[in-house]
Amino acid sequence: MDTANGVVAGADAITVALSLLLFVVLLMLAATSACGRGPWTVRRQLGTATAVAARTAVLDGPAAYPVIGALHAMDGHQDKPFRRFTELSHQYGPVFSMPMGSMPCVIVNDYPSIKEVLITNGSKFGGRPNFTRYNALFAGDRNNSLALCDWSWLQETRRKIARMYCSPKVCSSNYGLLDSIASDELDVFLESLAAVTVRGSEREVQVKQPLMMASANMFLRFMCTTQFEYGDPKFQNLVRIFDEIFWDINQGYAVDFMPWLRPFYAGHMRKLSNWSTQIRKFMMDAVISKRSSYARAVAEASNGAGDRIRDDDDHGANDGQEPTDFTDALLMSLQKEPRLKMDHVLFELEDFIGGHSAVGNMVMLTLSMVATRPHVAQAIRDEAEQVTGGQRLVRLYDKPDMPYTEATLFETLRIISSPIVPHVATENTTIQGFKISKGTCIIINNYELNTSPVYWNDPEVFDPNRFVHHKPGVKPCIRKPEYFLPFGTGKRTCIGQQLVSGFGFVLLAGILQRYEVMATAQMAIPEARLALPPDTYPLILRPLDGSRI
Ligand code: HEM
Repeated sequence: MDTANGVVAGADAITVALSLLLFVVLLMLAATSACGRGPWTVRRQLGTATAVAARTAVLDGPAAYPVIGALHAMDGHQDKPFRRFTELSHQYGPVFSMPMGSMPCVIVNDYPSIKEVLITNGSKFGGRPNFTRYNALFAGDRNNSLALCDWSWLQETRRKIARMYCSPKVCSSNYGLLDSIASDELDVFLESLAAVTVRGSEREVQVKQPLMMASANMFLRFMCTTQFEYGDPKFQNLVRIFDEIFWDINQGYAVDFMPWLRPFYAGHMRKLSNWSTQIRKFMMDAVISKRSSYARAVAEASNGAGDRIRDDDDHGANDGQEPTDFTDALLMSLQKEPRLKMDHVLFELEDFIGGHSAVGNMVMLTLSMVATRPHVAQAIRDEAEQVTGGQRLVRLYDKPDMPYTEATLFETLRIISSPIVPHVATENTTIQGFKISKGTCIIINNYELNTSPVYWNDPEVFDPNRFVHHKPGVKPCIRKPEYFLPFGTGKRTCIGQQLVSGFGFVLLAGILQRYEVMATAQMAIPEARLALPPDTYPLILRPLDGSRI
């Protein structure tokens, strides 16, 4: 599952009330302390501003109080936490301290500091925060998740197994498979849209649901060699649950930072673990249990690794044979790495299948961007027409010849500014010379990076061309500045980037080849969040006149 977008700093109604109550009490306490500031506030000691002094400096930030930390600074800004971080950075500098509840947090707002956290000094920031919700989603232990776990041998091993499938080389057989799966599923998806649209007229269509199912099937076909009917209620439920989780993980909850609020969230935590149980049940019943490689792996686990069972049927992970797909590769890895357990690989598979929610939401948001910018849709159609001669739907292999279309996905990710999962310092270290203690949660302000005029011309304008490099006599191609980090960077960078730009590209181009897409009055695009609510606004679709494909 793509759990990449865990965001911070929101607070729900109960918590706001509790926090405010506490805040008033604590403010009274604080008023008695020196200088009118909370005694717990850490201060930036810029003093001499020499390099030596900076090495010992501690960070400035909003006043922090026991129990709530500096969460009061978010009051009234719960919906736009990253915009608030930017405002605070103007006051306290690009790196500032902002304890949230009982958790020490540092907000990092500019490219040099973000680069230091993710790349230059990345080995010291490989942890993730220990949020109760993260644990609830992964059977009580967030280390079962790829995106929410701390760095360890397990994470290194899991990333290695995933690389071949999630980042296939263009000339590889897996890339060919991605191409054919994307095209086959696009056909099914467009058929499902054709069933609810009418030639010559426009219709309001709930695009998100079929889009999520198309995306889910692309992932399931590629990773598990299986697919489901859009009308299958069990499949619909699976896709829905993944989307609910994607939405939830993109929210900020006060309980993340104030674990003592847990009793108020007991019902919510139960709901999260119930979703996780339902996903496991579907995957076991409909995907895993049917495989001979699963039966073999279970038997080997109970017999001991040396005592292999031989079985030569179709999905078999036989000795010396190549795995048939990602699921097989995962099951076979149990033989190669004795420290890996069945649960590790099952969670990994579920995690990756869940990546489809990110792709579906991203395409829905891109369509929403395009819906109010018909010139962008037309430019994509023109590009598709040039490459296909108007005779066929776009394929994955067309991507290098269609930089504007791919750039439209990137421009959506820039404008949306989906957050980077918080990191945690795994040892005492520094950022830009400022002391960072082990265990500090590092929140990366990707929104500032994506929307500041420091980095972009006319940042508020939606212009895919900013990612297209045009040079006379040379084929236009994608060019991304180094500070554009929608997938993070460094050792914990997103593993799903190629699947995102591959499947996302085919879906976006395919829809626009067939339809004019327009906005409805309900359309509401969120800020700094890739997730749309599971039940979201419809879009208006009008089949294009004279479409031959
Ligand atoms: C538009 C879609 C997506 C976006 C914007 C996105 C973005 C991100 C970001 C920002 C991170 C965190 C990087 C960091 O902490 O430095 C991440 C991590 C991750 N993503 Fe994605 N992601 C997307 C889709 C996917 C998909 C489709 C998959 C799976 C197939 C996936 C798998 C992962 C995994 C496993 C991690 C955790 C890596 C680690 O912590 O070691 N993502 N993603």
